[in-house]
Order: sequence, then structure tokens, then C-alpha cells
Amino acid sequence: MPAFGDPFAGNVERKMTKKELAQAIRLDLAGELEAIYLYDAHVQATDNVVAKKVLADIRDEEKAHIGELTTLMRYLDPEEAKLFEDGAEEVHEMMEDLGIATGSSNAQSPEGATIGSLIE
Ligand SMILES: [Fe+2]
Repeated sequence: MPAFGDPFAGNVERKMTKKELAQAIRLDLAGELEAIYLYDAHVQATDNVVAKKVLADIRDEEKAHIGELTTLMRYLDPEEAKLFEDGAEEVHEMMEDLGIATGSSNAQSPEGATIGSLIE
């Protein structure tokens, strides 16, 4: 939710260190996730077709921002990038245990289910 009450909240007194930048980006990621959650809730909560289309488009733009920010994190913190890859590998191993092909990091179920399609 917006927090514009403090007129000085957006002022900066110095540049961030690399560690502070990584922390800031993690906070930015949290903001993107919250935005996705809220836009999607609003899409689900209305039958207005125009509003649904616009809000879903904005929601999907926020998902693209997640991709940009995680890519930036991989660049800024290669050790964290390795942990991201370790987590992806763990999921691929679990999927292989279940007999699900994992040719790429974008592997989908045989039905092509997405998070969105599971909702409806
Ligand atoms: Fe965004």
C-alpha cells in the first residue's frame, strides 16, 4: 500500500553500498509480488471486461518486472544466483522423480497448467 505520508521518505542522503543495493532490490521484488497479488485479486473481483483486461495486462507487466529484478540480482550477486540455480535444480529433480520432463527451467506440466489456469 502507498505510504506517502512522510514528505521526506523519498529523499536520499547517500548512494547505497552493494549490499544495501541488493537489499533494496529484494524489497523491490517484494513490492512487485504484492502488486501482482493485488492486481490479480482485482481481476478476479470484477466482471467488467475492460477492467479485467487492463488490470491483467498491468499484472503481467509486474511479472516481467520480477524477471528484470531477479536477473539484476543474478548480475549483482553471483553467489545468490548460484543459490537460485540450486533451488531450480532441486525442483527439476523432484519433477524427474515424478516422471515429468524438465528440458528447461520453463518446464510445464503435460496439461500446460499455469498458476493462472489453476485459479479458474
Ligand atoms: Fe512493477
